[in-house]
Amino acid sequence: MACSKHRVALVVVGLLLVGVVVAVAVPLSLRGDQEKNGKYTPRFQGQDCYPEAEGKRSAVNKTACLKRGCAFSTDVPAGQPVCQYTEGQYRLSVSSIVRTSLGLQATLQQTGSAPFGGDIRSWRFTFESRGDDIAHFVFDATDSSRYKVPKPVDVPARAGKQPKYESRITNNHSFAFEIVRRDTGTVVWDTNIGAGSLILSDQFLQISSRLPSRNVYGLGEHMHETFRHQMNRTWASFARDQPPSWDAEANLYGVHPFYTCVEDAAGNSHGVLMLNSNAQEYSFTELPSLTFRTIGGILDFYIFMGPSPEQVIQQYTGAVGRPMMPPYWALGFQLCRYGYNNISNLQEAVESTARYQIPHDVQYVDIDHMDTQKIFTVSEQRFPGLNQYFQELQSRGMRIIYILDPCLVANETDYRPYEEMKRIQGNIKWAVGVEVPANSSDTDGAILGYVWPQGKTVFPDYLKNSVKQVWKSLIVDYRHNLTFDGLWIDMNEPANFGTNEERPFNWPEKDKPYWSLKCPSNTWEDPPYRPKAAYRFDSSSRPARLSDKTICMSTVQGDQDQYRHYDVHSIYGWSQTDATLEAARLATGERSIVISRSTFPGSGTYAGHWLGDNVSQWKDMQSSIIGILEFNLFGIPYIGADICGFFENTSTELCKRWMQLGAFYTYSRNHNGITYLNQAPGQLGDDVAFASRDILRIRYQLLPYLYTLFHQAHTVGGTVIRPLHHEFPTETDTLSINKQFMWGACLLISPILEENQTQLEYYLPKARWYNYYTHEQLLQTSGAWRRETVDGNSKPSLHVRGGCAFIQQEYANNTHFSRRLPLTLVAALDGDGRAGGSIFWDDGVSINTYENGQYLEAQLSATNNSLTVSVTHWVPSADWDDLIFNTAQVLGVSQKVKSVYLQGQPQVLTFTQTEQLLEIVLPALPLTQNVTIYWSV
Ligand code: NOJ
Repeated sequence: MACSKHRVALVVVGLLLVGVVVAVAVPLSLRGDQEKNGKYTPRFQGQDCYPEAEGKRSAVNKTACLKRGCAFSTDVPAGQPVCQYTEGQYRLSVSSIVRTSLGLQATLQQTGSAPFGGDIRSWRFTFESRGDDIAHFVFDATDSSRYKVPKPVDVPARAGKQPKYESRITNNHSFAFEIVRRDTGTVVWDTNIGAGSLILSDQFLQISSRLPSRNVYGLGEHMHETFRHQMNRTWASFARDQPPSWDAEANLYGVHPFYTCVEDAAGNSHGVLMLNSNAQEYSFTELPSLTFRTIGGILDFYIFMGPSPEQVIQQYTGAVGRPMMPPYWALGFQLCRYGYNNISNLQEAVESTARYQIPHDVQYVDIDHMDTQKIFTVSEQRFPGLNQYFQELQSRGMRIIYILDPCLVANETDYRPYEEMKRIQGNIKWAVGVEVPANSSDTDGAILGYVWPQGKTVFPDYLKNSVKQVWKSLIVDYRHNLTFDGLWIDMNEPANFGTNEERPFNWPEKDKPYWSLKCPSNTWEDPPYRPKAAYRFDSSSRPARLSDKTICMSTVQGDQDQYRHYDVHSIYGWSQTDATLEAARLATGERSIVISRSTFPGSGTYAGHWLGDNVSQWKDMQSSIIGILEFNLFGIPYIGADICGFFENTSTELCKRWMQLGAFYTYSRNHNGITYLNQAPGQLGDDVAFASRDILRIRYQLLPYLYTLFHQAHTVGGTVIRPLHHEFPTETDTLSINKQFMWGACLLISPILEENQTQLEYYLPKARWYNYYTHEQLLQTSGAWRRETVDGNSKPSLHVRGGCAFIQQEYANNTHFSRRLPLTLVAALDGDGRAGGSIFWDDGVSINTYENGQYLEAQLSATNNSLTVSVTHWVPSADWDDLIFNTAQVLGVSQKVKSVYLQGQPQVLTFTQTEQLLEIVLPALPLTQNVTIYWSV
């Protein structure tokens, strides 16, 4: 593991936490590993001033480089940029430092010229303690007038008792600072890495930091090929209607400027959030270093000090918002497709699933159920009786989710959603003074675009309170026409078809009129620095623009029109989510659920997410694991990919394997694109159907454990689907694993991911493990790779970790029924014969059950030949008072058991024992009562 610790500063100015009022001018300090034999050899002089070339020398435009004021030379060592920033050209130096109660403020003055204009000569750097675990720093203009993300971050400024970090300014001449983990001395953040490491101007801000190791995860939303980041790559983020896998480097639907880093061999970890919503980039170099680049707002950073990887995520979700608690039914299997096209196809998909007794909780309809794709309508012609059918499914214990797009068709008469939004002036409108292109403005100045409906659309501005209110009332009222239990919000980047294109996209409605929104020219539409979010993926000769696939940047939003779309574009989806969840709750009277395509830090509080329009191909199934792991880091643990693939026809083998993998997504939904072969698990023949049924039955048995994990994520943060390195950070192999994942701390899933696979190779970390299916014990005295032979009948490998206790439940065809069935208490013993765990149980549908005390919680433990359930919270309820245990399974009992007794031994229990398993028959023991079971050997 490459780590740079204890690097000694030549000049250290002002300990932030014990800082003094100083105004200093200090020479540049470059340090440590750059010195050899007392002679300074600069290893890294200036940051890359032509990031567009992504390290390809031939792609650097020398004239453009010089125009930025940067230095151009081909005579630089390999790996160094040929176009570099210099300090003569631009720097920020400290003019004063003021100590504050929680840190310090430094005023920075610019010397030279910013590379992309928009010079703002005076900036304020604020470093503030947010308790022991979180450090916060901001660079803002001294007049504080710049755009700030309206999303609240909940970490009160407060002094720490024993802060895990300390910070120092390391360079006053060309401002730089570092943040150090106190107990190890590891520098987790270090901006003293050459000219251009800090640039602050109106439409171009960047900050570079040396990384303490290469073990970096997160930053989204993209389709990364590896879970652990590769250095020398640049990723762009800007919410975009961009399917994964069309271009491996594309910026996708959401924006998550958050990474985690495992710093050292001991597994110490930290996380970093840049709270910024402008179009942005993350550039890694081999130093290793990471540059955050953005084209607006402020640089607002939070550092989460962990030190364990799970603690980092707990601290992160504590700041941006804990994940919502999904209803129990939302953990069931879900079936969807775009293009049922009529009610009989929908019914056939549902009934085929039922015929095979494949567990199935949630059924969807997509936009094709609507009348000309207008939200809040049903095509009576193609979907007659849809509401009655949905009600019938609900009476069978199933649940309904349907889609809502954010935009509203504008050219219809008597279309209430549009009329109401217009009445309140709720739609995103053109900024005053902008040259509005022809035919692109509604009569009230709202921007017009073109999405699914057959006519131009307006885009409600969900940052406006009045819009949230109208949106909620539309949803609540419409449920009288079409019942639902949850909502799926799509296209909320927001997507707009054909922007700036000569011949706009209009598939599949070939008869739609061609029309394309053409955005005007100004500094918001075409900013001086064109980030990668805008300079890639363009097939025509015209330069790509930020507004491609979306609406124009020079429009305004907010209650007072105070925000430019340029700044708030990437929080459009986020801004729609809270109101949608509130509406769904008001309408259903239940907890409900929302699935959102575009997300931002904090979206997890209101919604889950799916990974978007993937392709029915093996590599998309494989890479979905990286996506689900990343969204767990982002605080959105309710996450899955379209099982069996969205675009293109699936194959039976792929779909079978994907159903098996998807049975371990937290959000387990099979979804298909329009026109492709049916792929509901009951529609592809016996092999897919039986494999799907069998693996989903296992999922359903495990749902009490999964639900408990969600409760933990909801209350203390952390992941639900967990990378191996979060549990075993000191085992180097785990740091790069992206084909396996865990449910919490206890269940390790190693899926079959390749066509015709005959061998499954997986890593088993150092622990005692039990094969879930055979109960066979595997003692790993050190982590190691293992191989298993697999064939067409094999399931994913599942291993239970020794030391874990959890509760299983019998499966049924949906959770409405399975939730009432008998429970099994499972204890997988560790080397000391111990196991522990818990269960959280509530009615599965009410809002805030934990917060209102309406739940049952019990601790499970095994030790000294006994197994106990201790109820730690209970209130009477029909939802759990009748639940009973009928079995206990103890894995890892090595001695021969003579007898098993219940509670103080009055009752002798029947049991069977094999080498692998002690299975005890229990006499209908209520979950609500404490239980102790002993076995004598
Ligand atoms: C795009 C979404 O990503 C996809 O899941 C959906 O089926 C289509 N829009 C149609 O609504």
